[in-house]
Amino acid sequence: MKGFLSVVLLFNSLGCKAHSWNDRSMVYGFDNIEPSANLTWTPCFDDFTCSRLEVPLDYSDTSLGTTSIAFIKLAGKNATMESPSIIINPGGPGGSGVDLLLTNRAIASQAFGEQYNIVSFDPRGVNNSGLSLDCFSGNTEARTAFSRLHSTGVTNISSTSLEEQYYSSSIYGEWCNNAVEKESPHGFYVTTPAVARDLLTFIEAEAELAGKAPSDAKLWLYGISYGTVVGATFASMFPDRVGRMILDGIADAEQYYDNDYSANVDQMDEAMEKFSSFCHSAGPERCSFWGPTPANITARMDNIILQLKNHPVPISEVHSRGLPALVTYSDLKALFVDALYVPTASFPVMADILHQLECGNASALAGKFDGLGVTFDAGHVIQCADSYRRNKLTSIEEFKSYVEYTVSKSKYIGDVFPIFVDSILCRSFRPQLPDSMVVQDQIIGLDRPTSFPILIASNTIDPITPLISARKTSSRFPGSILLLQEAVGVSCYQISITKPSQIRV
Ligand SMILES: *[C@@H]1O[C@H](CO)[C@@H](O)[C@H](O)[C@H]1NC(C)=O
Ligand SMILES: *[C@@H]1O[C@H](CO)[C@@H](O)[C@H](O)[C@H]1NC(C)=O
Ligand SMILES: *[C@@H]1O[C@H](CO)[C@@H](O)[C@H](O)[C@H]1NC(C)=O
Ligand SMILES: *[C@@H]1O[C@H](CO)[C@@H](O)[C@H](O)[C@H]1NC(C)=O
Ligand SMILES: *[C@@H]1O[C@H](CO)[C@@H](O)[C@H](O)[C@H]1NC(C)=O
Ligand SMILES: *[C@@H]1O[C@H](CO)[C@@H](O)[C@H](O)[C@H]1NC(C)=O
Repeated sequence: MKGFLSVVLLFNSLGCKAHSWNDRSMVYGFDNIEPSANLTWTPCFDDFTCSRLEVPLDYSDTSLGTTSIAFIKLAGKNATMESPSIIINPGGPGGSGVDLLLTNRAIASQAFGEQYNIVSFDPRGVNNSGLSLDCFSGNTEARTAFSRLHSTGVTNISSTSLEEQYYSSSIYGEWCNNAVEKESPHGFYVTTPAVARDLLTFIEAEAELAGKAPSDAKLWLYGISYGTVVGATFASMFPDRVGRMILDGIADAEQYYDNDYSANVDQMDEAMEKFSSFCHSAGPERCSFWGPTPANITARMDNIILQLKNHPVPISEVHSRGLPALVTYSDLKALFVDALYVPTASFPVMADILHQLECGNASALAGKFDGLGVTFDAGHVIQCADSYRRNKLTSIEEFKSYVEYTVSKSKYIGDVFPIFVDSILCRSFRPQLPDSMVVQDQIIGLDRPTSFPILIASNTIDPITPLISARKTSSRFPGSILLLQEAVGVSCYQISITKPSQIRV
């Protein structure tokens, strides 16, 4: 992942304009931009323009007032006002599209070409947009205490851990409910159907600005991972407003609204097996964990897992006077799940760490599991608000059978995935939302084609958003085309995944 990021940074620095600091209208944050119901673009972050679009909190009851959505645009070098804007919808939920485009601008331009404008945004509740919610209201001690009770390791690490994770999860919901009640009365108005409606508002405002008829405006969307749920939701709600839509790295939208993440584990072990075969074909020079056969690599990896399970490694830091740590099986599992988000970039790093472990050095893994913990609530708030009426994960029996399923399906990731996505946190959320904000009985998908066929893209081995979800989604949208890339990874263009710990799906 590091290598990937530094390539992006290099492009960034080459593309920077040196003199922009003295341009007085240039802003470097959204605080300096007035929200407006009409789209107004302000030069920002040297090479971009930014806008805060005012939208109704609730489209079915505009008397409730408005909130604002942060948009950012990278004008194509060959694009004009007439050129379509391709909106990149980030993963998550909870991912910041503003951050995504700022961090990946070079890749985005390369991917789509200079004839387009590229736009991204922070969905409701996220980063620079309105309705952000801090469930612990700044009380970091309470957040840490909760985390200590809840994030105790992989879900089935001990004979009581599953129960501890289940029962402690209600604490989180209660803090979030309370924060909404006391401080942010509309903090749960961040659901995906509302985000889809916001995108319609955006394309209509853009048409208005270009002097075109808003009612003819069409959406050009590139959705990644959870962003594909936004795309599928938009296409179901406004099938005649689809201009171009690429859904890449498909999350099963229907399962998402049920708070069910069981499909996600489908190809995880297949991807982990690729670690061994890639390492083997890379050779001993380029893979530090190399072995004479892929099976030898797998066997040594399995030994390390078993070893760590029975013998956690103390890191005293007595000489450095740093903080002591105990490296556990859960830390190793956290490494694996993190690596699967960007396998091609992460596998070499993973090989180095496994090699060090084999030599008895576990320090690279210290604190790895704790690093997965919740620091931003946006993702869970959106995930839980979206699913609360259909939540299939509320009782301890349901939780147990979900964990049994993930464990049976993936020996490497199955026991860490439930606490990684942490969908059990939704069980005590009580958002009081109007019907207009939630997907109810309505199934995602259509019985007729969208105004332009949807392109559904998937890798043949996708460890997080598996191929079966792409096939299923394709079957739900008549006329859609499924494009397969023979590769391992999440989404064909890996521009989504820069911070796996914040991006769940
Ligand atoms: C926004 O656009 C509408 C419709 O074109 C126009 O009537 C209105 O004056 C505009 N408002 C502002 C503040 O520019
Ligand atoms: C939020 O947006 C700012 C730009 O306004 C960006 O620098 C920052 O990385 C984003 N934060 C997150 C957590 O994505
Ligand atoms: C812009 O368009 C011109 C003319 O079509 C083309 O020659 C040029 O390569 C394009 N530039 C970029 C950066 O795409
Ligand atoms: C892997 O291969 C090495 C080198 O041949 C051998 O020493 C080792 O015993 C093998 N390990 C396993 C678990 O097969
Ligand atoms: C152990 O691993 C850490 C982190 O990867 C590394 O910085 C350190 O040099 C290693 N120590 C030894 C003795 O190899
Ligand atoms: C947890 O592990 C125990 C012992 O390994 C096993 O019997 C049980 O079925 C597991 N439970 C789940 C929910 O995976």
